Amino acid sequence: MKKLIELRDLQKHYPVRGGILRHQVGSVKALDGIDLDIYRGECLGLVGESGCGKTTTGKAIIRLHRPTGGQIIYHRGNGHAPVDIATMSPGALKREDIRGRLQMVFQDPTTSLNPRMLVKNIIAEPLREQPPLGSRELEGRILELLHLVGLTQDHYLRYPHEFSGGQRQRLAVARAIATNPEFLVLDEPTSALDVSVQAQILNLLQELRQQLELTYLFVTHHLLVVKYISNRLAVMYLGKVVEIAPTPQLFVQASHPYTHALLSGIPIPDASQRSRRIVLQGDVPSPLNPPAGCRFHTRCPFVIDRCREEEPFLELFSEEHRVACHRKDEIERLVRDRFGR
Ligand SMILES: Nc1ncnc2c1ncn2[C@@H]1O[C@H](COP(=O)(O)OP(=O)(O)OP(=O)(O)O)[C@@H](O)[C@H]1O
Ligand code: SF4
Ligand SMILES: [Mg+2]
Repeated sequence: MKKLIELRDLQKHYPVRGGILRHQVGSVKALDGIDLDIYRGECLGLVGESGCGKTTTGKAIIRLHRPTGGQIIYHRGNGHAPVDIATMSPGALKREDIRGRLQMVFQDPTTSLNPRMLVKNIIAEPLREQPPLGSRELEGRILELLHLVGLTQDHYLRYPHEFSGGQRQRLAVARAIATNPEFLVLDEPTSALDVSVQAQILNLLQELRQQLELTYLFVTHHLLVVKYISNRLAVMYLGKVVEIAPTPQLFVQASHPYTHALLSGIPIPDASQRSRRIVLQGDVPSPLNPPAGCRFHTRCPFVIDRCREEEPFLELFSEEHRVACHRKDEIERLVRDRFGR
């Protein structure tokens, strides 16, 4: 498999200001050294509790944010040399059409679509930075995009408020693919929708991925959604990736205690299994001051002295499966002995 995007030690720290003079008094370490490869054509799921840095990762990759440090290597293909887009200036991002190639769909289409714009202008907006199209060509392209996402010509001159939630998300997808991108960050694209339409949008995204040869980073809280849609799954905790593996493998052979805790929270119809949920003690620590050593040590049921002092790094556990835990080889047994899972 060919790499499309490589994150190397990616960092994003948000300054925290205080006092009358608003001096910087600290920083939220939203991303604190992310290493991740995204392969051409795959759907990589990204899961983790609220605030662990999923959206920040997505926004950094498409350069809505400028990272504080690290690299985002974009393998553009077609004879182009790989480029580090982490430090590219706004002018270079535009010149290289990075914004056209890497796009994002946000969780809530109600807030991500301008309510005062007609559908045709919403979809045409990202095309403004592309070589200009004649008016007939532009209209043809917009109608083609509406058709691709399951909308019709009748929707061309409407406003977003005239649409249902599912239709609005289709519109957001049409806008995101307008520039023919090869990579989409999908940030909880179905979480704001009724359960009945979530599956339709997931199916649409699956079809578009195949039809347009897209690569996805699919951010979500919902493990069952990601089980359905992703090829590989990365688990984040407090600004770090702690485990990554092919999705089916992660569901049967999770090797980080945090992944086990997340998986144990999936609702199971069988009441006898419910008691086996791994309930983590304590709150997620503040990203202003993450714990030393393994940053999961304050909540981990299997913590040992080494965990409080030495940070574990992502290491190969088995083929295509990487885990950041000092006790990765024992975790399966420890979870079975303690929690009976
Ligand atoms: N613009 C910002 N300024 C300061 N801190 C921010 C900003 N955006 C995010 N953060 C902080 O960075 C951390 C990561 O936030 P992020 O939105 O990436 O998390 P997330 O995993 O997407 O969470 P959720 O599941 O709730 O969407 C959080 O502690 C958040 O409060
Ligand atoms: S390194 Fe230690 S504290 Fe961290 S997840 Fe592994 S066992 Fe738990
Ligand atoms: Mg988010």
